[in-house]
Amino acid sequence: MASTGRPEETGERGRPTERGPLPDGFLFGVATAGFQVEGGFNGPGQPANNWLAWEQVGRVAPSGDAVDFWRRPEEALDRAAALGCDSFRFSVEWARVQPEPTGIDQAALDHYVAIAEACVDRDLTPLVTLHHFTHPQWLGEDLWLRPDAVARFEAWARVVVPALAPTVRHWVTLNEINVMGLMTYLLGAFPPGRLAGIDDTAVALDNLLAAHVRAYDVIHAERPDAVVTTNNSCMTVYEYDRMLLDVLLSRSMGVERRDLDGWIAERRRGHYDMLPTPGMGEALLRRVGRAVAPYGSSGRWGSVPRRALDAVEASPHERTLDVLGVDYYDPQASRHFRLPGHGTAGGRNPLPVRELWDDPPDPAGLTRWLGIQATLTPGLPLWVVENGLCNRLRNGRSFGRLDGWDRPRYLRANVAAVVDAVDAGVPVEGYWHWSLVDNYEWGSYEPRFGIHGVDRDRGGPGGTWLETDAMGRDAAGTYRSVIAGLRAGDRSVLQQD
Ligand code: BGC
Repeated sequence: MASTGRPEETGERGRPTERGPLPDGFLFGVATAGFQVEGGFNGPGQPANNWLAWEQVGRVAPSGDAVDFWRRPEEALDRAAALGCDSFRFSVEWARVQPEPTGIDQAALDHYVAIAEACVDRDLTPLVTLHHFTHPQWLGEDLWLRPDAVARFEAWARVVVPALAPTVRHWVTLNEINVMGLMTYLLGAFPPGRLAGIDDTAVALDNLLAAHVRAYDVIHAERPDAVVTTNNSCMTVYEYDRMLLDVLLSRSMGVERRDLDGWIAERRRGHYDMLPTPGMGEALLRRVGRAVAPYGSSGRWGSVPRRALDAVEASPHERTLDVLGVDYYDPQASRHFRLPGHGTAGGRNPLPVRELWDDPPDPAGLTRWLGIQATLTPGLPLWVVENGLCNRLRNGRSFGRLDGWDRPRYLRANVAAVVDAVDAGVPVEGYWHWSLVDNYEWGSYEPRFGIHGVDRDRGGPGGTWLETDAMGRDAAGTYRSVIAGLRAGDRSVLQQD
């Protein structure tokens, strides 16, 4: 039975100490992504990815050296190990390994293998992402609309997986399929930056789901004991999160293709039954999501090829998720919109959207969300693949959050929320904090998410890592004590100061 998430059960109250440690094998980690940490993309003579044009015309900040992870991964891995983590998530960058349409850069691929081995040397289980929002520039900004996108991605998986599988058992095929589709074609925030491209969004999501299935098959053919997931960013609007999972899981849940649309309509009802009553804005977004859905609707979007279903049916595996990955920031879709010009930490925002540094933490919501996922997909273990808090750094000045939250408090409260879910019987098997270190946040170095801050003006390429986070707090010390305490069965480490 999942927790109801009521404040007296979850959140930041004192944690019960009488229960034992987390289940054996529970993984604590930190999550990173190649383009955000490696550095060395999109400059002269460097591998180019789908963000090249935006960097060149100055639409986004240059990614530059990021934190120079490519040249000094050991520093990051040592820091992760020093936190007491037993897992490290990183992505293999397609543009780095295949910078040109023909041939591969074997040295780059070998370097990724060495990074995975360096994880193992430090008792960090590598969790490898095959696609984290980027692809080679030569594939064009609209890769995910191309009819050959799925075959291209499968070919990419066939390059990487055989090289890494001897060392890597845990995989994310594609990071946040839902965010990739929405940011690229609906919200205009990822290249090519299209706004309100409703049917393009549906086509891209369909291709991304099909690509997941093919990559799952490739990984399992190479390594039958692999644990494979994809990790949507939790979102209340059914069509942009749970529906995508339902399409993937339909076959394993005994749904025939001809019955899919009716089943999706039922699943939508079940999903909304479990979520708190929305306000007007939320109700509106839910209606829009339903009206434009490529599944379970009147079929208005019949032009979506449904390659995802073809892939699900053709797979030798009935179910192509071994575990359900969730990225938990703020799932409530309507809360991401604001009146233009609202005040925000470090300035005013002229846009009708909320800034990342104003995302409200909601640990009780995390417990509830995990419970809902377990109810909707019985028997599938869960991973929290990302969860983190943002603050703003602008012109060298770090701004605190308007709501007063900091990372130590956030870490304790959110890990406590996971523990609450586990106590309530939800099979959560891992937690990866986003992120180990401040990094390149999709076009900007202003949003800061790191347990470790970085002084970008000191030291060589990639700057100097700080012991504290960008707000000057000891987030590293907190995570270290939380991990060590929970491993020893001491829940008092989750108590707030
Ligand atoms: C993405 C990360 C990103 C983080 C914080 C997730 O959507 O996977 O790449 O940095 O959220 O915004």
